[in-house]
Amino acid sequence: MSAPLFPLFADLRHRPVLVVGGGAAAERKTEALLQSGALPRVGAPVLTAQLSAWVQAGRIRWLTGEFQEDWLEGVWLAIAATDDVTISQALIASAETRRLLVSVAEDVELSSSRESAAQAAQVPGSVVLVGAGPGDPGLLTLNALRALNQADVILHDRLVSEGILRLARPGAVRIEVGKSAQGHSIRQEEIHALMLEHARAGQRVVRLKGGDPFVFGRGGEELQFLQAHGIPYQVVPGITAAVACAAYAGIPLTHRDHAQSVRLITAHCKASLDTLDWPALARERQTLAFYMGVGELDTLRARLTDEGCPASTPFALVENGSREEQRVVIGQLDDLPHTARHHGVRSPALLILGEVAALAETLHWFGGPPLRAPLPYSDNLSAPTLPRAA
Ligand SMILES: C[S@@+](CC[C@H](N)C(=O)[O-])C[C@H]1O[C@@H](n2cnc3c(N)ncnc32)[C@H](O)[C@@H]1O
Repeated sequence: MSAPLFPLFADLRHRPVLVVGGGAAAERKTEALLQSGALPRVGAPVLTAQLSAWVQAGRIRWLTGEFQEDWLEGVWLAIAATDDVTISQALIASAETRRLLVSVAEDVELSSSRESAAQAAQVPGSVVLVGAGPGDPGLLTLNALRALNQADVILHDRLVSEGILRLARPGAVRIEVGKSAQGHSIRQEEIHALMLEHARAGQRVVRLKGGDPFVFGRGGEELQFLQAHGIPYQVVPGITAAVACAAYAGIPLTHRDHAQSVRLITAHCKASLDTLDWPALARERQTLAFYMGVGELDTLRARLTDEGCPASTPFALVENGSREEQRVVIGQLDDLPHTARHHGVRSPALLILGEVAALAETLHWFGGPPLRAPLPYSDNLSAPTLPRAA
């Protein structure tokens, strides 16, 4: 069992920090330190090309050779980023006598002792289903971060952002098992088989999913499979797209004046749309959050208006919610497919429908202001045609 850890965020601007190691792990830690405004000193006999380039550019200092205690002079923090356990232990021991904190980039001591125990006892590993949220790494939970830092193998969806994957333990093996909306790059059975294979090899597997594993994420099926095969598992919830997209678009999902309930709905394909209770969805004073609906907007509009949902019901389409490239497109139900086509809205996008969606216009705070269709559009008008060249 791993030691309980205290989460810490440190302001390291203009402060010297020692990184021991010259490989990929040291490079990642140094990059993060540079981004935080710290003054990294990297101690190692040899450096990666990137670390050398930073030395040449005068951005970091290079302490050449094997670890020496005097490298700790004047630093505020030390980072062990070497896979040489002896050096990490020497660094930790020297730092302890100075009451200096050491952050261990790669927990080599833990992983090597665990590996030999697993090999000797042939014990199964474990799987943690982790929700990665919608993209912004700041929306990960501390439990998710801890699981990523302890993972041997990470099986991740296509939608999980690079910023999140960079937070994982550098030595972890990453395998993309994503499925796109159109293609099926890897079948669910293959994902099951990969989880089983790695867990049975005694490894700590993280099954990393966009949003929350139990909201349109097939997390339930994966747990049933693991349970049937006797693999220990845990679940770390994540912030689901509806919650995150609404927050990042300035749309309160409920509001005393507008909506008293929220429905999370999958609009994945015609077959799943046919099973929905359309009269219930057309009712007022609720917010509808449609996942995977970009390809079905015409059907959504037709079914809802047929059941009496007012054509003027506000909508917001949030594309790439919480990411740098987020776009929010707003309008009224009647204009929905036209407006989405006009702006070329693509997956991943979440459709929020209901009175609250109109609040994006005044409450937006992230990224650019919401976009609209340039002209009012109605079914009575024919679609605009371009003049032909004579
Ligand atoms: C297969 S579902 C997975 C949902 C995920 N488990 C969750 O809880 O958010 C994928 C759909 O989630 C929505 N989605 C996920 N991330 C999103 C994001 N960053 N912005 C907008 N929609 C997103 C889109 O509707 C996308 O088609």
